Amino acid sequence: AKGESLSICVFGASGDLAKKKVLPAIFSLYYDRHLPENVRVFGYARSKMTNEEFKEKIRESLPCRISAAGNCDDVIESFLERMHYVSGLYDDPKDFKALDQAMAAEEAKMGKKAMRIFYLSIPPSIFVPVAQNAARECSSSTGETRVIVEKPFGRDLESSRELTSSLAEVLAEENTYRIDHYLGKELIENITVLRFSNIMFQPLWSRAYIRNVQICFSENFGTEGRGGYFDNYGIIRDVMQNHLLQVMALFAMEEPASLDAEDIRDEKVKVIRCIRPIEMDNVVLGQYKGRRDGDKQLPGYLDDETVPPGSKCPTFAAMALFIDNARWDGVPFLMKAGKALHKRQAEIRIQFHHAPGKLYKKQLGSASEMNSNELVIRIQPDESIYLRLNSKIPGLGMRLDQTDLDLQYKTKFSEANLPDAYERLILDVVQGDKRLFIRNDELEEAWKLFTPLLKTIEDDQMAPELYPYGSRGPIGAHYLASRYNVRWGDTYN
Ligand code: BG6
Repeated sequence: AKGESLSICVFGASGDLAKKKVLPAIFSLYYDRHLPENVRVFGYARSKMTNEEFKEKIRESLPCRISAAGNCDDVIESFLERMHYVSGLYDDPKDFKALDQAMAAEEAKMGKKAMRIFYLSIPPSIFVPVAQNAARECSSSTGETRVIVEKPFGRDLESSRELTSSLAEVLAEENTYRIDHYLGKELIENITVLRFSNIMFQPLWSRAYIRNVQICFSENFGTEGRGGYFDNYGIIRDVMQNHLLQVMALFAMEEPASLDAEDIRDEKVKVIRCIRPIEMDNVVLGQYKGRRDGDKQLPGYLDDETVPPGSKCPTFAAMALFIDNARWDGVPFLMKAGKALHKRQAEIRIQFHHAPGKLYKKQLGSASEMNSNELVIRIQPDESIYLRLNSKIPGLGMRLDQTDLDLQYKTKFSEANLPDAYERLILDVVQGDKRLFIRNDELEEAWKLFTPLLKTIEDDQMAPELYPYGSRGPIGAHYLASRYNVRWGDTYN
């Protein structure tokens, strides 16, 4: 509105996340005119740099969209004009006061009311001082102040509670936006649309028709340089406790009363609370080891110099989860996540029961589970949704084969840009929409589920099964799935 301005400040502005994701996302929103003209973007970090040096550093990482109208270089210039860099310490209130003054000076030029958004793109060890200093010294005196926090939100139930309560001292829950960038991905937002707006899926979405659900995440690169951070967390904390559990909750929750943030999050909390405690028997851990590939040596996890020697930190995990409620009783939810595997992919795979009776048994063969329907939601790359069906091979005679009803985003929605997850989420913060952010009780339940398992793994110093860099992961994952009569879909396709 007229007379109002928006200031976004990124703490940790010289870091990797800010450069690769946060600032480019803010720029894209500006480019597509989702941000007000009266926007200012502040970068705050310890590094001493002039405004100009900072802008030069950022300039290279600003993306231009081919399809958008207008001259991108001009938009970059006008965006950079709106940027300011402030260097300071993270624990010195004086430096935050200086930031406050820099923000206020800009805001005064633009109107009476200013909303401020702070993005904490910083290591967990400084979350609390930065949040406290920002809240105390830099809260907007004329409008709302919202704070975006990035995971890790602690490393277990206890540390997460401590973090929550320290943040709560200075920040109302209402103004705290806990980001899980998976919730900003196009296909993940589409899960609830698919489920609740298509009558054909509604009756199928339960133990009556679904045999198992697979939620798989793989990356074809290792921790490369991030080992220092990663080793303190491991793959379960890094992607399962948050990203994959969120996907599972959206997939399995009951229909919310409305699309309001609180209604959706109520349902997610409810279903997470119904997940049975995870038994170690249902978990497989892995760690990648080096491998020779022609004349190239692919490094093992332990070759990363930032990783402590002999670390048992899992870079891969697979587990079977069960939701003990009426809808999902007995259905295995198989989750798998790993680094340094053979491909980068994330998907949900829903395998249905086979059709009863024996009408086409001869044509389909005896392994009927191989011929059952499967719905795949490919989160990335090549976003798509496909439904595997049995169908007659055209021609004389009666031969059957599997084929796909296929919705590929690239061909179907070629005009549309798939916005980056961060873009969607930052815009939601500007608009005050909390649907895609993690509420404190949700976080608490997620930790309640995973903390006992993590404790067992760490107390017992469980040794991970080694798998070669670039492989399909440890063989144990297959044994785990076969215990539930399941084959991982992503390995035979
Ligand atoms: C982050 C993890 O949260 O998600 C990383 O810390 C991981 O280890 C990343 O690589 C994956 O995100 P995306 O969007 O690239 O799938």
